[in-house]
Amino acid sequence: MRLLVTGATGFIGRTIVLRALADRGIGEVVAPVRSPEKLRAQLAREGVTHTAKLRVIKAGAPRWDLRETGAVDRVVHCAGVLFGRSRDEYFRINVDGTLDLLRQLPGSPRVVVLSSQSAGGPTPTGHQAKKLDHPDRPVSWYGESKLHMEAAVREAGHHDVFFLRAPMVLGPGDRATLPLFQMVRGKVWTKPGVKPKHFSWISSDDLVDAIETWFHRGAGELGTAHVTSPGTISDADLMLTAGKVSGRKGRLVAVPQFLLKPVAFASKFIPAIGEKVPSLTPDRAREIWADRWVIDGAPFEEASGWRGRATLEDTLARTLAWLRRERLV
Ligand SMILES: NC(=O)c1ccc[n+]([C@@H]2O[C@H](COP(=O)([O-])OP(=O)(O)OC[C@H]3O[C@@H](n4cnc5c(N)ncnc54)[C@H](OP(=O)(O)O)[C@@H]3O)[C@@H](O)[C@H]2O)c1
Repeated sequence: MRLLVTGATGFIGRTIVLRALADRGIGEVVAPVRSPEKLRAQLAREGVTHTAKLRVIKAGAPRWDLRETGAVDRVVHCAGVLFGRSRDEYFRINVDGTLDLLRQLPGSPRVVVLSSQSAGGPTPTGHQAKKLDHPDRPVSWYGESKLHMEAAVREAGHHDVFFLRAPMVLGPGDRATLPLFQMVRGKVWTKPGVKPKHFSWISSDDLVDAIETWFHRGAGELGTAHVTSPGTISDADLMLTAGKVSGRKGRLVAVPQFLLKPVAFASKFIPAIGEKVPSLTPDRAREIWADRWVIDGAPFEEASGWRGRATLEDTLARTLAWLRRERLV
Protein backbone atom coordinates (compact mmCIF):
# COMPACT_ATOMS: atom_id res chain seq x y z
CA MET A 1 0.00 0.00 0.00
CA ARG A 2 1.34 3.42 -1.01
CA LEU A 3 0.42 6.53 0.96
CA LEU A 4 1.07 10.06 -0.28
CA VAL A 5 1.24 12.82 2.38
CA THR A 6 1.52 16.53 1.52
CA GLY A 7 2.75 19.07 4.07
CA ALA A 8 5.17 16.53 5.58
CA THR A 9 7.42 19.34 6.85
CA GLY A 10 4.49 20.75 8.86
CA PHE A 11 3.09 19.74 12.24
CA ILE A 12 0.28 17.43 11.14
CA GLY A 13 1.88 16.07 7.97
CA ARG A 14 5.02 15.11 9.88
CA THR A 15 2.94 13.36 12.58
CA ILE A 16 1.24 11.32 9.84
CA VAL A 17 4.55 10.45 8.14
CA LEU A 18 6.10 9.32 11.43
CA ARG A 19 3.11 7.07 12.16
CA ALA A 20 3.07 5.70 8.58
CA LEU A 21 6.79 4.88 8.60
CA ALA A 22 6.20 2.68 11.64
CA ASP A 23 3.11 1.02 10.12
CA ARG A 24 3.89 -2.37 8.58
CA GLY A 25 0.70 -2.19 6.50
CA ILE A 26 2.15 0.71 4.51
CA GLY A 27 4.75 -0.26 1.93
CA GLU A 28 5.84 3.19 0.79
CA VAL A 29 5.28 6.75 1.98
CA VAL A 30 5.52 9.38 -0.74
CA ALA A 31 6.15 12.92 0.50
CA PRO A 32 6.06 15.77 -2.01
CA VAL A 33 7.61 18.76 -0.20
CA ARG A 34 9.09 22.11 -1.18
CA SER A 35 12.30 21.34 0.70
CA PRO A 36 13.47 17.70 0.88
CA GLU A 37 16.45 18.88 3.00
CA LYS A 38 14.10 20.38 5.60
CA LEU A 39 12.12 17.14 5.84
CA ARG A 40 15.22 14.96 6.16
CA ALA A 41 16.63 17.22 8.88
CA GLN A 42 13.33 17.14 10.78
CA LEU A 43 13.08 13.35 10.56
CA ALA A 44 16.68 12.96 11.71
CA ARG A 45 15.84 15.07 14.79
CA GLU A 46 12.91 12.71 15.45
CA GLY A 47 15.39 9.84 15.46
CA VAL A 48 14.20 8.47 12.10
CA THR A 49 17.21 7.30 10.17
CA HIS A 50 15.69 4.24 8.54
CA THR A 51 13.88 5.87 5.67
CA ALA A 52 14.04 3.12 3.06
CA LYS A 53 10.27 3.22 2.60
CA LEU A 54 10.12 7.01 2.35
CA ARG A 55 10.14 8.59 -1.10
CA VAL A 56 10.69 12.34 -0.98
CA ILE A 57 9.78 14.41 -4.04
CA LYS A 58 10.40 18.09 -4.58
CA ALA A 59 7.00 19.59 -5.45
CA GLY A 60 4.61 22.18 -4.13
CA ALA A 61 1.37 24.11 -4.49
CA PRO A 62 -0.21 25.59 -6.42
CA ARG A 63 1.29 23.58 -9.33
CA TRP A 64 2.22 20.14 -8.10
CA ASP A 65 4.50 18.09 -10.29
CA LEU A 66 3.76 14.46 -9.43
CA ARG A 67 4.97 12.87 -12.67
CA GLU A 68 7.61 10.80 -10.86
CA THR A 69 5.22 9.58 -8.18
CA GLY A 70 3.55 6.47 -9.59
CA ALA A 71 0.07 5.33 -8.51
CA VAL A 72 -0.83 5.71 -4.84
CA ASP A 73 -3.65 4.10 -2.82
CA ARG A 74 -4.20 6.73 -0.15
CA VAL A 75 -3.57 10.45 0.14
CA VAL A 76 -3.62 12.79 3.14
CA HIS A 77 -3.44 16.40 1.99
CA CYS A 78 -2.05 18.57 4.79
CA ALA A 79 -0.14 21.24 2.86
CA GLY A 80 -1.73 24.62 3.26
CA VAL A 81 -1.35 28.22 4.32
CA LEU A 82 -2.54 28.93 7.87
CA PHE A 83 -1.15 32.42 8.36
CA GLY A 84 -1.03 34.14 4.99
CA ARG A 85 -0.47 37.78 4.15
CA SER A 86 -3.26 38.19 1.62
CA ARG A 87 -6.57 36.67 0.58
CA ASP A 88 -4.98 35.78 -2.73
CA GLU A 89 -2.25 33.75 -1.02
CA TYR A 90 -4.84 31.68 0.91
CA PHE A 91 -6.88 31.03 -2.21
CA ARG A 92 -3.91 30.28 -4.47
CA ILE A 93 -2.47 27.65 -2.14
CA ASN A 94 -5.50 26.29 -0.28
CA VAL A 95 -8.00 26.28 -3.17
CA ASP A 96 -6.05 26.20 -6.45
CA GLY A 97 -3.32 24.08 -4.85
CA THR A 98 -5.82 21.44 -3.68
CA LEU A 99 -7.63 21.31 -7.03
CA ASP A 100 -4.34 20.94 -8.86
CA LEU A 101 -3.12 18.21 -6.49
CA LEU A 102 -6.30 16.19 -7.04
CA ARG A 103 -5.97 16.60 -10.81
CA GLN A 104 -2.34 15.48 -10.78
CA LEU A 105 -2.78 12.45 -8.50
CA PRO A 106 -1.84 9.24 -10.27
CA GLY A 107 -4.25 6.30 -9.95
CA SER A 108 -7.59 6.55 -8.12
CA PRO A 109 -6.58 6.97 -4.50
CA ARG A 110 -8.86 7.57 -1.52
CA VAL A 111 -8.16 11.07 -0.25
CA VAL A 112 -8.44 12.82 3.11
CA VAL A 113 -8.18 16.61 2.88
CA LEU A 114 -7.43 18.62 6.02
CA SER A 115 -10.03 21.34 6.09
CA SER A 116 -10.72 23.33 9.24
CA GLN A 117 -13.51 24.31 11.57
CA SER A 118 -12.68 27.85 10.37
CA ALA A 119 -14.54 26.91 7.15
CA GLY A 120 -17.77 26.86 9.14
CA GLY A 121 -17.01 29.80 11.40
CA PRO A 122 -17.70 30.13 15.13
CA THR A 123 -20.52 28.35 16.95
CA PRO A 124 -23.79 30.08 16.02
CA THR A 125 -25.27 32.21 18.80
CA GLY A 126 -27.68 30.26 20.98
CA HIS A 127 -26.11 26.86 20.22
CA GLN A 128 -23.73 24.74 22.27
CA ALA A 129 -21.86 23.45 19.23
CA LYS A 130 -21.67 24.16 15.50
CA LYS A 131 -23.22 21.30 13.53
CA LEU A 132 -22.46 20.56 9.92
CA ASP A 133 -26.00 21.51 8.89
CA HIS A 134 -25.73 24.98 10.44
CA PRO A 135 -24.92 27.60 7.79
CA ASP A 136 -21.19 28.08 7.22
CA ARG A 137 -20.05 31.58 8.15
CA PRO A 138 -16.25 31.83 8.06
CA VAL A 139 -14.87 35.03 9.58
CA SER A 140 -11.35 34.94 8.10
CA TRP A 141 -9.81 34.63 4.64
CA TYR A 142 -8.31 31.38 5.89
CA GLY A 143 -11.78 30.00 6.71
CA GLU A 144 -13.21 31.31 3.42
CA SER A 145 -10.43 29.59 1.49
CA LYS A 146 -11.13 26.26 3.23
CA LEU A 147 -14.88 26.52 2.58
CA HIS A 148 -14.29 27.50 -1.04
CA MET A 149 -11.83 24.64 -1.43
CA GLU A 150 -14.38 22.06 -0.20
CA ALA A 151 -17.02 23.39 -2.63
CA ALA A 152 -14.60 23.58 -5.57
CA VAL A 153 -13.41 19.98 -5.05
CA ARG A 154 -17.01 18.74 -4.88
CA GLU A 155 -17.90 20.70 -7.99
CA ALA A 156 -14.91 19.25 -9.85
CA GLY A 157 -16.46 15.83 -9.15
CA HIS A 158 -13.51 14.19 -7.44
CA HIS A 159 -14.64 10.90 -5.91
CA ASP A 160 -13.63 9.44 -2.61
CA VAL A 161 -12.49 12.69 -1.02
CA PHE A 162 -13.20 13.19 2.66
CA PHE A 163 -12.90 16.61 4.32
CA LEU A 164 -11.93 16.71 7.96
CA ARG A 165 -12.89 19.96 9.64
CA ALA A 166 -10.43 19.87 12.50
CA PRO A 167 -10.55 22.29 15.42
CA MET A 168 -7.33 23.53 17.11
CA VAL A 169 -4.82 20.66 16.88
CA LEU A 170 -2.37 20.19 19.75
CA GLY A 171 0.51 17.79 20.21
CA PRO A 172 4.25 17.16 19.93
CA GLY A 173 5.68 18.87 16.85
CA ASP A 174 3.43 21.94 17.15
CA ARG A 175 5.47 25.14 17.17
CA ALA A 176 2.27 27.21 17.36
CA THR A 177 2.01 26.42 21.09
CA LEU A 178 5.47 27.92 21.72
CA PRO A 179 4.09 31.40 22.67
CA LEU A 180 1.76 29.71 25.19
CA PHE A 181 4.62 27.90 26.93
CA GLN A 182 6.80 31.01 26.78
CA MET A 183 4.05 33.04 28.39
CA VAL A 184 3.51 30.68 31.32
CA ARG A 185 7.20 31.03 32.19
CA GLY A 186 6.35 34.61 33.27
CA LYS A 187 4.25 35.75 36.21
CA VAL A 188 1.44 37.39 34.25
CA TRP A 189 -0.55 35.31 31.78
CA THR A 190 -2.64 37.39 29.39
CA LYS A 191 -5.71 36.10 27.67
CA PRO A 192 -7.57 37.96 24.92
CA GLY A 193 -11.02 39.14 25.99
CA VAL A 194 -12.62 39.49 29.40
CA LYS A 195 -15.32 36.87 28.74
CA PRO A 196 -14.20 33.21 28.75
CA LYS A 197 -13.79 31.64 25.33
CA HIS A 198 -14.63 28.01 24.68
CA PHE A 199 -13.08 25.73 22.10
CA SER A 200 -13.11 22.25 20.72
CA TRP A 201 -9.66 20.75 20.24
CA ILE A 202 -8.05 17.55 19.02
CA SER A 203 -4.72 15.95 19.80
CA SER A 204 -2.56 15.15 16.79
CA ASP A 205 -2.64 11.47 17.79
CA ASP A 206 -6.43 11.41 17.86
CA LEU A 207 -6.49 13.18 14.50
CA VAL A 208 -4.21 10.57 12.91
CA ASP A 209 -6.37 7.80 14.44
CA ALA A 210 -9.48 9.42 12.97
CA ILE A 211 -7.86 9.56 9.52
CA GLU A 212 -6.81 5.90 9.75
CA THR A 213 -10.34 4.97 10.85
CA TRP A 214 -11.81 6.66 7.78
CA PHE A 215 -9.42 4.76 5.49
CA HIS A 216 -10.30 1.46 7.20
CA ARG A 217 -14.01 1.83 7.78
CA GLY A 218 -15.25 5.00 6.09
CA ALA A 219 -17.88 7.15 7.76
CA GLY A 220 -21.18 6.10 6.20
CA GLU A 221 -22.61 8.84 4.01
CA LEU A 222 -20.50 11.60 5.53
CA GLY A 223 -18.25 13.45 3.08
CA THR A 224 -17.26 16.12 5.58
CA ALA A 225 -16.86 15.74 9.32
CA HIS A 226 -15.93 17.50 12.50
CA VAL A 227 -13.47 15.57 14.67
CA THR A 228 -12.62 16.37 18.28
CA SER A 229 -10.84 14.98 21.32
CA PRO A 230 -13.09 14.64 24.38
CA GLY A 231 -14.34 17.76 26.12
CA THR A 232 -14.66 21.45 25.47
CA ILE A 233 -11.89 23.63 26.85
CA SER A 234 -11.68 27.31 27.75
CA ASP A 235 -8.81 29.71 27.13
CA ALA A 236 -8.18 29.69 30.89
CA ASP A 237 -8.03 25.84 30.90
CA LEU A 238 -5.41 26.01 28.17
CA MET A 239 -3.22 28.45 30.07
CA LEU A 240 -3.65 26.83 33.49
CA THR A 241 -2.89 23.38 32.06
CA ALA A 242 0.17 24.70 30.18
CA GLY A 243 1.28 26.27 33.50
CA LYS A 244 0.64 23.02 35.38
CA VAL A 245 2.66 20.81 33.03
CA SER A 246 5.45 23.43 33.04
CA GLY A 247 5.46 23.52 36.85
CA ARG A 248 4.69 27.27 36.79
CA LYS A 249 2.18 29.50 38.52
CA GLY A 250 1.05 32.89 37.31
CA ARG A 251 -1.73 35.43 37.39
CA LEU A 252 -4.30 35.24 34.59
CA VAL A 253 -5.05 38.72 33.26
CA ALA A 254 -7.77 39.33 30.67
CA VAL A 255 -6.76 41.87 28.01
CA PRO A 256 -9.67 43.78 26.43
CA GLN A 257 -9.96 42.66 22.84
CA PHE A 258 -9.75 46.15 21.34
CA LEU A 259 -6.13 46.32 22.51
CA LEU A 260 -5.25 43.41 20.27
CA LYS A 261 -6.38 45.13 17.10
CA PRO A 262 -3.45 47.54 16.78
CA VAL A 263 -0.99 44.67 17.26
CA ALA A 264 -2.74 42.68 14.58
CA PHE A 265 -2.61 45.56 12.12
CA ALA A 266 0.99 46.40 12.99
CA SER A 267 1.86 42.79 12.16
CA LYS A 268 0.68 43.39 8.61
CA PHE A 269 3.01 46.31 8.00
CA ILE A 270 5.97 45.54 10.23
CA PRO A 271 7.28 42.17 9.07
CA ALA A 272 9.45 41.70 12.16
CA ILE A 273 6.31 41.64 14.33
CA GLY A 274 4.50 39.43 11.86
CA GLU A 275 7.34 36.90 11.87
CA LYS A 276 7.21 36.66 15.65
CA VAL A 277 3.44 36.49 15.97
CA PRO A 278 2.18 34.94 12.74
CA SER A 279 -1.11 34.00 14.40
CA LEU A 280 -1.86 37.68 14.90
CA THR A 281 -2.20 38.62 11.26
CA PRO A 282 -5.19 40.97 10.96
CA ASP A 283 -7.07 38.26 9.11
CA ARG A 284 -6.64 35.49 11.72
CA ALA A 285 -7.15 38.00 14.56
CA ARG A 286 -10.78 38.20 13.38
CA GLU A 287 -11.15 34.64 14.69
CA ILE A 288 -10.03 35.71 18.17
CA TRP A 289 -13.05 37.98 18.64
CA ALA A 290 -15.55 35.06 18.67
CA ASP A 291 -16.24 33.57 22.11
CA ARG A 292 -17.24 30.06 21.08
CA TRP A 293 -15.49 27.73 18.64
CA VAL A 294 -17.14 24.49 19.69
CA ILE A 295 -18.08 21.89 17.05
CA ASP A 296 -20.23 18.79 17.16
CA GLY A 297 -18.09 15.72 16.53
CA ALA A 298 -20.89 13.20 17.22
CA PRO A 299 -21.88 12.40 13.59
CA PHE A 300 -18.37 11.19 12.71
CA GLU A 301 -18.16 9.17 15.93
CA GLU A 302 -21.51 7.53 15.23
CA ALA A 303 -20.75 6.84 11.56
CA SER A 304 -17.22 5.50 12.06
CA GLY A 305 -17.19 4.11 15.60
CA TRP A 306 -14.08 6.23 16.28
CA ARG A 307 -13.68 8.07 19.61
CA GLY A 308 -10.99 10.54 20.59
CA ARG A 309 -9.13 9.50 23.73
CA ALA A 310 -6.60 12.23 24.48
CA THR A 311 -6.57 14.43 27.56
CA LEU A 312 -5.44 18.05 27.45
CA GLU A 313 -2.93 17.60 30.25
CA ASP A 314 -1.17 14.64 28.70
CA THR A 315 -1.18 16.27 25.26
CA LEU A 316 0.34 19.52 26.54
CA ALA A 317 2.89 17.63 28.66
CA ARG A 318 4.08 15.74 25.57
CA THR A 319 4.09 18.94 23.50
CA LEU A 320 6.27 20.64 26.11
CA ALA A 321 8.64 17.66 26.15
CA TRP A 322 9.00 18.01 22.36
CA LEU A 323 9.59 21.78 22.54
CA ARG A 324 12.26 21.17 25.19
CA ARG A 325 13.91 18.48 23.11
CA GLU A 326 14.03 20.95 20.20
CA ARG A 327 15.52 23.49 22.68
CA LEU A 328 12.74 25.96 21.89
CA VAL A 329 11.77 26.47 25.55
N1 LIG B 1 -2.73 23.12 13.25
C1 LIG B 1 -4.03 23.26 13.46
O1 LIG B 1 -4.45 23.60 14.59
C2 LIG B 1 -5.02 23.00 12.37
C3 LIG B 1 -6.39 23.03 12.67
C4 LIG B 1 -7.32 22.76 11.66
C5 LIG B 1 -6.89 22.46 10.38
N2 LIG B 1 -5.56 22.46 10.12
C6 LIG B 1 -5.14 22.16 8.74
O2 LIG B 1 -4.23 21.09 8.73
C7 LIG B 1 -3.28 21.24 7.69
C8 LIG B 1 -1.87 21.13 8.26
O3 LIG B 1 -1.70 22.12 9.28
P1 LIG B 1 -0.35 22.21 10.13
O4 LIG B 1 -0.74 22.67 11.49
O5 LIG B 1 0.44 20.97 9.96
O6 LIG B 1 0.36 23.43 9.40
P2 LIG B 1 1.92 23.81 9.32
O7 LIG B 1 2.67 23.22 10.45
O8 LIG B 1 1.97 25.28 9.10
O9 LIG B 1 2.38 23.08 7.99
C9 LIG B 1 1.95 23.53 6.74
C10 LIG B 1 2.55 22.63 5.71
O10 LIG B 1 2.08 23.09 4.43
C11 LIG B 1 3.22 23.25 3.59
N3 LIG B 1 3.01 24.28 2.59
C12 LIG B 1 2.67 25.58 2.77
N4 LIG B 1 2.61 26.20 1.58
C13 LIG B 1 2.93 25.27 0.63
C14 LIG B 1 3.06 25.30 -0.77
N5 LIG B 1 2.89 26.42 -1.48
N6 LIG B 1 3.39 24.15 -1.41
C15 LIG B 1 3.61 23.00 -0.72
N7 LIG B 1 3.53 22.92 0.62
C16 LIG B 1 3.18 24.05 1.29
C17 LIG B 1 4.34 23.65 4.54
O11 LIG B 1 5.58 23.43 3.87
P3 LIG B 1 6.92 24.28 4.19
O12 LIG B 1 7.54 23.59 5.37
O13 LIG B 1 7.70 24.15 2.93
O14 LIG B 1 6.50 25.69 4.51
C18 LIG B 1 4.09 22.68 5.68
O15 LIG B 1 4.59 21.42 5.37
C19 LIG B 1 -3.56 22.60 7.04
O16 LIG B 1 -4.29 22.39 5.87
C20 LIG B 1 -4.40 23.31 8.08
O17 LIG B 1 -5.27 24.22 7.48
C21 LIG B 1 -4.61 22.70 11.07
